[in-house]
Amino acid sequence: MSPRLSQELIDKIRESNDIVELISEYIPLKRRGKNWFGLCPFHTEKTPSFSVNQEKQIYHCFGCGAGGNIFTFLMEHEKMGFGEALRFLARRANIQIPQYGVPRQENDLLFKANQFALSFYQSKLNSSSKAKGYLQERGYGEELWQEFKLGYAPPGWDNLLGEAKRRFLPPDLLFKVGLAVKSQKGSGYYDRFRDRLIFPIFNLSGGVVAFGGRTFPGAEEPKYLNTNETPIYHKGSLLYAIFNTKEHIRKKGWALVVEGYTDLLTLYQAGFRNVVASLGTSLTSGQAKLLSRYASKAVISYDADSAGEEASQRGVELLLEAGLEVELITLPPGEDPDGLVRKGKDRFAKCVEEPENFLDSRLRRLKAKHDTTTVAGKMRTIREIGSTLAYIKDPLRRRLWVKRAAQSLHIEEDLISSSLQQKGGENTSPPLRVPDRAEVAVLGYLLSHPQKAGWVKERLEIDELRSSQVAQLLSSIYQTTQRGEEFSPASLIDEHPELSGLITQASFGGEEPEEALTDYVRAIKVEALKRKMAQLKSQMEELEERGEEIKEEELMREYQRLSSQLKESA
Ligand code: UTP
Ligand code: MN
Repeated sequence: MSPRLSQELIDKIRESNDIVELISEYIPLKRRGKNWFGLCPFHTEKTPSFSVNQEKQIYHCFGCGAGGNIFTFLMEHEKMGFGEALRFLARRANIQIPQYGVPRQENDLLFKANQFALSFYQSKLNSSSKAKGYLQERGYGEELWQEFKLGYAPPGWDNLLGEAKRRFLPPDLLFKVGLAVKSQKGSGYYDRFRDRLIFPIFNLSGGVVAFGGRTFPGAEEPKYLNTNETPIYHKGSLLYAIFNTKEHIRKKGWALVVEGYTDLLTLYQAGFRNVVASLGTSLTSGQAKLLSRYASKAVISYDADSAGEEASQRGVELLLEAGLEVELITLPPGEDPDGLVRKGKDRFAKCVEEPENFLDSRLRRLKAKHDTTTVAGKMRTIREIGSTLAYIKDPLRRRLWVKRAAQSLHIEEDLISSSLQQKGGENTSPPLRVPDRAEVAVLGYLLSHPQKAGWVKERLEIDELRSSQVAQLLSSIYQTTQRGEEFSPASLIDEHPELSGLITQASFGGEEPEEALTDYVRAIKVEALKRKMAQLKSQMEELEERGEEIKEEELMREYQRLSSQLKESA
């Protein structure tokens, strides 16, 4: 088994190697302005269109669209696996990487610190009427919070640190596991969690490896804070509550997948025990693989909002790739599983009884997005369905789904099969549907001005984007920013290697002035409005044919509202 390295170490390895130096060992590069150019190693060409940017540590070919960071270069050019590329670059930069995880003693210490904090938070919950009151208000019984070992961090800057000191646990250790934060000035520390409800996170053997903390209503932002990755915690390969629920999942053979801690707890208490939650990120391939050890089917039940929808669709692909069957539950608009169960367990149970398979769900979305009565719309739909089905590795299973997709779209199977083949092997990025210029420009702007992410997030909804690829990247950026973490083109590539070409294309787009950003955002919003109106119009026409006047009137009002919105933003 190869050891898992922390994100921190991966970043360090990436940052300790220089991409220009490395690539120069394989192909001659010449400097031109800010970038270095050479003949592209990924396609045949006579004039150099392969360009490397030293500052951003990425490469991009303007000829074939290949692009990536130092890891993907080795993976694609030298056919190394990710682990191999890491080890290769670590050796190059003289960085020690653990062969079989970190030395035991250090891990033991990290567990010890977490275990200490767990008991501390649990005892504080026991003596806090405020925290217990809040749990009661949300309908969580004592049995539940005992089982999940929920806790409470009292207000104040050094409650945990103070108690640690009395037990001779060094502050530095609490810092390592993310429970203490270094203060800006001086060498002091303060408690990360203050006046928050604590959700401990357990590994597969029940050891406490991390914590999430929720504010009380009306308190400081962000709503949730989480401890960071450590040698004993890799959030991309663990699922919340899997220790408690894995046997239930194994017995049933399938699992509900939800977004939040509270969704999970509410479902568990209501008797839906075969459930897991992703850990404050959208689902990762590591999490999908973990789930596939216990289940053969995943039923996604995310929030019924646009972010939840987007995350579901991405989750579908990773779960399919891990070999799972995938179904989705659509909740009433604005609901999350927690909210719905609290309105009535039966209402959620009913949704669970009628899940939609991933294909029908995707087709429904695509039909809303593209006009499938036109050739262009149908082509787009086929391509997007093809790119989803390509994640299914088992050839028989894939053929069966291709057949169903063809039936639904009333087309020949080979039209879908041929769009599958374009995806090629794992090493060639699939040819991308050319995303909107404005959308790529916004992405590119954010990659060189990450500090504007909050500004864009306030103005641009994910579902206003037309390109699902840009949407995936932007939603990743939004989430990273929300967690208060930083991102760069190179780190985004680690997160979405399959979109590396698009990331580098956007990144190499050239400097744009800030006013251009405002224009692009407005242009995207206007386009989204127009699409929405066109869609409404065809719905109205349909209703008119069927003679459903009342609904048509409703749509008409919505249409007028959008139309005046459009006038305002023009
Ligand atoms: P939600 O905002 O949907 O919260 O985030 P929730 O789970 O419904 O919580 P309640 O019901 O308001 O108490 C879903 C999940 O995303 C992560 C958490 O894991 C949360 O459970 N998250 C959310 C964060 O890590 N940080 C945040 O600031 C927000
Ligand atoms: Mn909620």
